[in-house]
Amino acid sequence: MKPIDCGHLYRDGRHYDLQNKDFLDDIPFYLRQTKKYGEPVLELACGTGRITIPIAEEGIQITGLDISEPMLSQAKRKAAIKGINVEWIKADCRNFKLNKKFNLIFFPFNSIAHLQDLESIKSCFSCVKMHLKDKGRFIIDIFNPRLDILTRDPSKRYPVAEYPDPDGKGTVVITENNTYDAATQINRIKWYYKIGIQAEEVVEKLNMRIFYPQELDELLYYNGFTIKAKFGNYDETPFESTSPKQLIVCYSHKWGDSD
Ligand SMILES: C[S@@+](CC[C@H](N)C(=O)[O-])C[C@H]1O[C@@H](n2cnc3c(N)ncnc32)[C@H](O)[C@@H]1O
Repeated sequence: MKPIDCGHLYRDGRHYDLQNKDFLDDIPFYLRQTKKYGEPVLELACGTGRITIPIAEEGIQITGLDISEPMLSQAKRKAAIKGINVEWIKADCRNFKLNKKFNLIFFPFNSIAHLQDLESIKSCFSCVKMHLKDKGRFIIDIFNPRLDILTRDPSKRYPVAEYPDPDGKGTVVITENNTYDAATQINRIKWYYKIGIQAEEVVEKLNMRIFYPQELDELLYYNGFTIKAKFGNYDETPFESTSPKQLIVCYSHKWGDSD
């Protein structure tokens, strides 16, 4: 298995939360799914609890699992302030064993793109199957690849985010560019951080595995999952060529056909 190479990006959960503070679109979708499929719920790669905490606030029993200590610390801080109860687990989603099974496991916000090789994907899917209850559901959320974005000019800069620095150093401006390796299907992204008036930019690398629609469906199939629904966005419209998202709801073959 390839080592996880995104740790540096997630070294400060405060930056992650400020960067993503306006992205709320997926929360109602996961709330609907948790109400439909029931608790307990497990979120893989839960980060700072951006989705986990609003679900727990509805009184739903949820476990958040992530490999990053700084992201989990931020999640715990936020949950403590709100006085809500979440079980936080520090673990690798490719190798975990909890003494519990779940009615719903979800892997949101493109996090599967951090799993870059077949061994990682197989191990993760195998752990998911071990932790699903009878007829339990697994949901994956990853963008539908856009060739125009993957092949855009790597010498240009494209905007990512702008937010106030949590340590009061001014405004953080993040821009990016990327080079796509079609052989490995890895999109090699560089994020350029400019903080306040400092002249020097900080450059962080982010490698994302690209999953094409048929490939992802087949990876699930050959790893023992049946796809129940594939949506193209959080409003649950069916997946089609121009859909922004691949939102797959599936269950383990082991349970035969399911409602
Ligand atoms: C894009 S963030 C998503 C966080 C959160 N789910 C959300 O929606 O805001 C990706 C998360 O994946 C986590 N991650 C990456 N590789 C992982 C692995 N192998 N096991 C568990 N977590 C992992 C990172 O630490 C990070 O918190």
